[in-house]
Amino acid sequence: MENSVIKTMLERSSIRAYSDEKLTYAELHALEEAALSSPTAMNRQDQRFIFVTNDAMLQRLEQAIMQSIIDSGNTDFAERIKSRGGKTTYNARLIVIIVNKPSHFSRVDAGIAVENLALAAKSLGLDSVILGMPEGAFAGEYGAALREEFRFPEGFEFSIAIGIGHRATEKIQHEWNREHVIYID
Ligand SMILES: Cc1cc2nc3c(=O)[nH]c(=O)nc-3n(C[C@H](O)[C@H](O)[C@H](O)COP(=O)(O)O)c2cc1C
Repeated sequence: MENSVIKTMLERSSIRAYSDEKLTYAELHALEEAALSSPTAMNRQDQRFIFVTNDAMLQRLEQAIMQSIIDSGNTDFAERIKSRGGKTTYNARLIVIIVNKPSHFSRVDAGIAVENLALAAKSLGLDSVILGMPEGAFAGEYGAALREEFRFPEGFEFSIAIGIGHRATEKIQHEWNREHVIYID
């Protein structure tokens, strides 16, 4: 069956190297719509989308993520990332940080929105990588100053982020297994 949405789903994969080409205003506008059209439990819409395109702030985020990994004391992980060039956001020219007011379904809401963004990016000829790694940098007392720098509204917490841009590498999607679908028929 030929279906353009499913084709986009099957073509999406996590890309971990981006060119310097910036996104256009039209692309950013389309991605805003993809984010804002995501459904939320009870239509609460208690989530915000922080679109970071500023070069200095993108660099700042990458540096803060690396620092948080070092500060966490996970030296093996820190060394592994350093040995791969210290890249945690892969030169993505747009990072969308999804922040939520914590509630029972807030992270489900954020997960839906991040996939909306990933699929929208792919359908626009862009690529993406979902980023859980910034979590530590924004967490608790440790991340308070960074949350302010990145303009988190009061009471909103990091849920997930996504890097989006023009790919500078190729990668196919993960392998999957039809046995993971359980039919009750
Ligand atoms: C919740 C979540 C968090 C993730 N965090 C990261 C991350 O911080 N860094 C990264 O490189 N990839 C991250 N990924 C990407 C996964 O590693 C990737 O989706 C998985 O390996 C499957 O590969 P595919 O997306 O190419 O199909 C994350 C994915 C999800 C769903």
